[in-house]
Amino acid sequence: MVHPVGLPAWKDLAALAATTGQKPMRDMFAADPGRFGRFSARLGDLLLDYSKNRIDAEVMAALIRLARQAGLAEARDAMFGGETFNITERRAVLHTALRNRSERPVMVDGQDVMPEIRAVLARMKTFAEQVRSGEWKGATGRAIQSVVNIGIGGSDLGPVMVTEALKPYQRDDLAVRFISNVDGSHAAEVLKLCDPETTLFIVASKTFTTQETIANAKTCRAWTVDKLGEAAIPNHFVALSTNARAVADFGIDTANMFEFWDWVGGRYSLWSAIGLSIAVAVGFGRFEELLAGGHAMDEHFRESPLEANLPVILALIGIWNANFLGADAYAVLPYDQYLHRLPAYLQQLDMESNGKGTARDGAMVGWGTGPMVFGEPGTNGQHAFYQLIHQGTRLIPCDFLAAAQTHNPLGEHHLMLLSNVFAQAEALMRGKTEAEARAELEKAGMSTAEIAFQLPHRVFPGNRPSNTLLYPRLDPFMLGQLIALYEHKVFVQGVIWDVNSFDQWGVELGKVLAKAILPELSSSAPVTNHDSSTTGLIEAVRALRR
Ligand code: F6P
Repeated sequence: MVHPVGLPAWKDLAALAATTGQKPMRDMFAADPGRFGRFSARLGDLLLDYSKNRIDAEVMAALIRLARQAGLAEARDAMFGGETFNITERRAVLHTALRNRSERPVMVDGQDVMPEIRAVLARMKTFAEQVRSGEWKGATGRAIQSVVNIGIGGSDLGPVMVTEALKPYQRDDLAVRFISNVDGSHAAEVLKLCDPETTLFIVASKTFTTQETIANAKTCRAWTVDKLGEAAIPNHFVALSTNARAVADFGIDTANMFEFWDWVGGRYSLWSAIGLSIAVAVGFGRFEELLAGGHAMDEHFRESPLEANLPVILALIGIWNANFLGADAYAVLPYDQYLHRLPAYLQQLDMESNGKGTARDGAMVGWGTGPMVFGEPGTNGQHAFYQLIHQGTRLIPCDFLAAAQTHNPLGEHHLMLLSNVFAQAEALMRGKTEAEARAELEKAGMSTAEIAFQLPHRVFPGNRPSNTLLYPRLDPFMLGQLIALYEHKVFVQGVIWDVNSFDQWGVELGKVLAKAILPELSSSAPVTNHDSSTTGLIEAVRALRR
């Protein structure tokens, strides 16, 4: 197997990084009035402007060659075709089938999975409509007013992010809440807001063995039984899982279970039954619009030439910035309050998928893989960490996201928001030269001595890369497109970095050790099996809790 660093295009890009990669973008914009047109791409109303990167046509051509040489098209077809793409878990990777709106069958092991998918969607529709209409009743005959999703990781972050993003489509008389953290304070605070008679719990866990989720589900079950009795459980608990036996063992009737399959990765599962809280929150029709948006991006990803393919471009720009220009992180900066959980969602999607140090053939990688991801909505982030992005010593490429239209037209707010997002991208690109900074200080009437002192602090190096995603309005279809865009971006990067983006062995060790430590915290037996730091901390907790 040829690793990415052995591909001819990788070497070409390394050479280009020392030339084009060092050129000021300011100059590139000045020399080429058509730069925006040349380095932007669209899918319908969704615009990706990637012109504020240190690229030119030669760099883009080399990046496209890299994708070709890495076998991207073949890998993409293998994933969509239901091959065992997740090699370590020996599973297909078919979240795309969940949002397949075409008539095409999707085959896994010789069997079309579409009939099963449609059957579960039909059950989700019925359930969501029953809850929303008040037909689904709690044990005392009252309609449901509060739906609580209990899950963590992929069984939480997607539904949380989407329900927050689609708040304008929700009703005031039906709250959708989330409990994820094993910290009992999370459950306690959510339960304070709920009335057991009108609360429905959705226990969301692919494996149905996740410690946090089972602990939270037990607590909520006990809370319900305490107030309404054991017989109330079927009216107040449903499960979303691939593990019917564990659901039954937990005490939820499998008639109240919505199924999904092992070929749906946790962090790719919001399109499956895991999206039930979304369907309840915004209605099944809107959930289908979300699926349709995801599907539209799938079709684009499958069919568009690589040069005009949004996920491919976003992925290649990320690789250019990370592997050739030295960026170890990137910031996701939605100038859209409704997307305030997008950075957290993308942290799992990107970092759990591509935070890998082993290549698909088992060799240790000798090249950078998944970057650190962080972010906050704009403009809040501007007043927190942007200082480092503008003037710090690290290169942090940014993805800006913004809607042209708001759901909440309040005075000039939205135009102020948009002016800020465009200004940030422009400032990062342009920077401020010493001459410009000096002219400003002189104009402000500063003394020569003070200018000499202040000047170095007032210069912005600029030449800092960013992408901007601009869309008309954040509706379910557009959100579906955006999520699928990032999913496929992560996929493309995983293919080029030659890692398995669909396993997550790195989260296992901590889980195992936590299980060993749990009984030690409440025992008085000497702690023997740990390093002195862990032993010291366990003993300190014992002393503090006495
Ligand atoms: O933390 C690892 C992980 O397996 C994630 O990949 C997953 O999304 C999460 O735990 C929750 O898993 P489950 O849905 O099985 O409870």
